[in-house]
Amino acid sequence: MLSEWLQTSHYTVVFTGAGMSTESGLPDFRSKNNGLWNNLDPTRLASTEALNKHVDEFIQFYRTRVAAITDYKPHKGHEILAKWGKKGKIKSIITQNVDGFHQEAGSKNVAQLHGTLQELHCQNCGKVYGKESYMEERYECVCGGTLRPSVVLFGESLPEEAFRFALEETGKCDLFIVLGSSLTVTPANQFPLIAKENGARLVIINREKTELDAYADLIINGRQIGEVLEEVDQIISS
Ligand code: APR
Repeated sequence: MLSEWLQTSHYTVVFTGAGMSTESGLPDFRSKNNGLWNNLDPTRLASTEALNKHVDEFIQFYRTRVAAITDYKPHKGHEILAKWGKKGKIKSIITQNVDGFHQEAGSKNVAQLHGTLQELHCQNCGKVYGKESYMEERYECVCGGTLRPSVVLFGESLPEEAFRFALEETGKCDLFIVLGSSLTVTPANQFPLIAKENGARLVIINREKTELDAYADLIINGRQIGEVLEEVDQIISS
């Protein structure tokens, strides 16, 4: 059914969460077995409060995550999405992920709703630095301010340009495919609902149940995203 919808759709948008990158080796946040937030408190680590009140803990947490995106790479699923983008099978990707793996695999038109770990900036003057600064344990800007990853922390608003682009794409689509998100975090989790309200078909591919399954036209639980994408790719490429 998914292959058929993908073939007949005029404007398909893909929406990804951390489950898209677990097959690359990166942990997600809420998976029952090893989600990051099962043992760590996000408000204590991934928030503006953390940056202001426990900056050493904040930096160590993000240095580990920056190292991970340097050590791991996009998997077959990312590559298939990039191929589908080049063929026009999908028009854009709205991602909550900050690993930059969609772009690394060759996808264009990617809206990074939660920013990126691929870049740092000074909390004080905004000067932009490469992620290498964290790898080389340089945590201060030339102005003396603290360097932080260009991700959206809890307590911060989403980047306007990415949000606007995501809204535009969601408004245009007739097929909206969610890959690997528990759909628990607002406002990102509004996009599948907006697509549905605009008359698009909603597909949710996620190992576990999500908060928006009731709105989906097709749900695929209990399977690996990479496997599902490979299967669909074989059908639509034959
Ligand atoms: N195949 C299919 N589903 C998977 C796979 C996989 N290989 N790996 C994990 N999943 C599913 C899990 O079952 C889980 O429900 O992906 C989902 C990931 O959900 P979360 O861990 O909540 O990640 P996400 O929805 O992206 O979180 C949203 O929360 O902490 C913030 O900013 C952070 O962007 C993140 C946001």
